[in-house]
Amino acid sequence: MNAINHKPTLIFATNNVHKVEEIQAAIGDQLEVISLKQAGIDIDIPEPHETLEANASEKSSTIHRLTGNDCFSEDTGLEVDALNGEPGVKSARYAGDDRSFSNNIDKLLHKLQGHTDRKARFRTVISLIRDGQEHLFEGICEGRILANPAGEQGFGYDPVFTPDGATRSFAEMNMEEKNHYSHRRKAADQLVAFLKMQPRR
Ligand code: IMP
Repeated sequence: MNAINHKPTLIFATNNVHKVEEIQAAIGDQLEVISLKQAGIDIDIPEPHETLEANASEKSSTIHRLTGNDCFSEDTGLEVDALNGEPGVKSARYAGDDRSFSNNIDKLLHKLQGHTDRKARFRTVISLIRDGQEHLFEGICEGRILANPAGEQGFGYDPVFTPDGATRSFAEMNMEEKNHYSHRRKAADQLVAFLKMQPRR
C-alpha cells in the first residue's frame, strides 16, 4: 500500500518506460504500477530461456526473491509466419547484442525481402507473483509486417507492424490507439480481471 495516496502499488519487473506507460494506461488508476527504478532496484535481469513464459517467470521470480513483494513481469516476442516464428523469444537481440531497435528492424525487413506472406503477431506473456504463487496471462495481437518503417511513436518493431483492422503502423498511433489493439493491453486486461477476482488474503 502506498502511504501517500493509499493506492495499491505493484512492482513491474522492467525498466522499459514505454512498457510501464502502456501497462499503466491499460490498468487505469485503480493500481499504481512502479518500475524497478522507481522501486529502488538496480538490476538487469537476463532473458536466457527459449520461451516467453520462462523468461517472464525468471524476471518475476528474481524480483520476488529480492523483495518478498508481489510483482509482475512480461516478455514479448514478434512472431513472423514467413520466418517460422522468428524473431520470437529472440526479438530484443535479433540483430545482435546491442539491442538497437533500428538494426533489429533492418534485419527483419532484409529477411522478409521477396516474401509476400507478411503475417505476424506480437505475443505478450505476463507472469504475476501474488502471495508467493505464480499466475501467467497471455495477450496476442495479429497483424502484418510493412515493407518500410512508418511513424515515430512507440518503440521496438512498432514502425513496421500494422495490427489487423488498422491501416497505420503502431508507431503512427498514440498510446491510446495502440492500446486499442495491443498484445500488452490484452494480457494486462487479464491481469486486472484476475486481481479483481482474487481479493488479497
Ligand atoms: P522484451 O519483452 O523487452 O524482451 O522485448 C522483446 C523485443 O520486442 C524488444 O526488441 C522490444 O523492443 C520488442 N517489443 C516488445 N514489445 C513491443 C511492442 O509493443 N511493440 C514493438 N516492439 C516491441
